[in-house]
Amino acid sequence: MPITTCIFDAYGTLFDVGAAARMAAEEPDHTVLKDTWQSIAQHWRLKQLQYTWLRAVADQHCDFWQVTQDGLDWALDTAGINAPETRERLLALYWELAAYPEVPDMLATLKQRGLQTGILSNGSPDMLQGAVESAGVRELLDVTLSVESVGVFKPHAKVYEMVENHFGCSREDVLFVSSNGWDAAGAAGYGFQTVWVNRAGEPQDRLYASPHQTLTDLTGIPDLI
Ligand code: LAC
Repeated sequence: MPITTCIFDAYGTLFDVGAAARMAAEEPDHTVLKDTWQSIAQHWRLKQLQYTWLRAVADQHCDFWQVTQDGLDWALDTAGINAPETRERLLALYWELAAYPEVPDMLATLKQRGLQTGILSNGSPDMLQGAVESAGVRELLDVTLSVESVGVFKPHAKVYEMVENHFGCSREDVLFVSSNGWDAAGAAGYGFQTVWVNRAGEPQDRLYASPHQTLTDLTGIPDLI
């Protein structure tokens, strides 16, 4: 692939979104999560994403922090949990999510090989800054692009267009990597080369385009280019 620019989704792709509920469940103050954290993490993520899609089609944009809180409130409600301190702890952990273990080496290899690197995410700029800092990968990324610059969530074309506008490249030069099947499909439909990182072994989404490659983690990304 004649790729010059490698762009990553953030949540679920570079940063482990399940980590917030998993870590809070291990803390003595949040025993309410002991048997529920997995379903809360799953519902939280699902509702967060559904709210982005619904707000995009309804032209009712708000930032990703709002849908992150709204999704968590739905998930706690459906689990019958009313625990304000646990809610606050889960939200606080979202600002310091761990990166997947292979992320620093993979990004360092891309930089050594002269690739441009960046994040393109629904996350608000301050959320993304928190995650990039706590994961220690700031130096390995040329840019962190947030949908807040265009006021609509993925998979709107205006979002993917930000990459070309920022780097002055064409869409054929971009490898876009996401663990969200719908995001990889959306980016493929837009015209990027795409990799779907299917960590969970999920079936492929049936959408208007398909990812070009599928991997189980990020380790193999440099060798695709
Ligand atoms: C993001 C979400 C979709 O980072 O994971 O854009």
